[in-house]
Amino acid sequence: MAKKTKPDTPAASNRRLTISAFAKMKKNGQKITMLTAYDFTMARLLDQSGVDILLVGDSLAMVVQGHDNTLPVTLDEMIYHAEMVGRAAKRSFVVVDLPFPINHQGVHQTVMAAGRILKETRCQAVKLEGGADQANVIAALVTAGIPVVAHVGLRPQTVHAMGGYKIQRDLEELVIDAKAAQDAGAFAVVVECVPAAMSKALTEQLAIPTIGIGAGPDCDGQVLVCNDMLGINGDYVPSFVKAYADLGNTIEAAAKQWCEEVRKVEFPDADHSF
Ligand code: KIV
Repeated sequence: MAKKTKPDTPAASNRRLTISAFAKMKKNGQKITMLTAYDFTMARLLDQSGVDILLVGDSLAMVVQGHDNTLPVTLDEMIYHAEMVGRAAKRSFVVVDLPFPINHQGVHQTVMAAGRILKETRCQAVKLEGGADQANVIAALVTAGIPVVAHVGLRPQTVHAMGGYKIQRDLEELVIDAKAAQDAGAFAVVVECVPAAMSKALTEQLAIPTIGIGAGPDCDGQVLVCNDMLGINGDYVPSFVKAYADLGNTIEAAAKQWCEEVRKVEFPDADHSF
């Protein structure tokens, strides 16, 4: 009988990934892949396609709920979506965003909110926007056994304070934030909208993996909003997004054809009737 051998890389494993996989991947120079997911069907497909991390991003406020920014989504709504994604994931590690402004309501409130996410959703970690200013919150979550991904550079939850979504160019601030998050116990850091040279310098200085979005090729991993990369968003797509499919037009064309066939009584035909 053939002897079962262990897969030699986390990326080749069929088991649910754990945080230790990502440290190993950084050490071995293997890129980490992260995509957002908001429901069971999409999460199942992305999990089967081998995406390492599914992020139940608060971008669901924009992508799923149709708001202008990420601020309106509530903790209960995040949990509703995270539960579906957590149930679909067989191999992918699942991270859930803490919605605005939970991690600014004090350590106790944040631990209670993140605790609810882990208890109610089968997801394994939370992400929060912030670095040095959130170090005490990150440390408290990690002490409670809750793995944390920090999010530095452009922080979409501060859109009003920033006066819009802007490329972040302060390397010193970026390094201070990411190092503070690392020292507080975060196991990875999302780096959003910074020049490629800056995220390269940051990645070289950190022991934990950087996962970039609009941050060039030298981060330890990449993340995109799945609807953007699948071509099912509205007219605005950020310039750093590459569309790998045109599902928006495919869906519209399929629905249009179905309407036409129904109206002409071509559907259902004999093959699709009892
Ligand atoms: O909410 C989200 O989708 C995110 C990604 C853009 C990283 O935070």
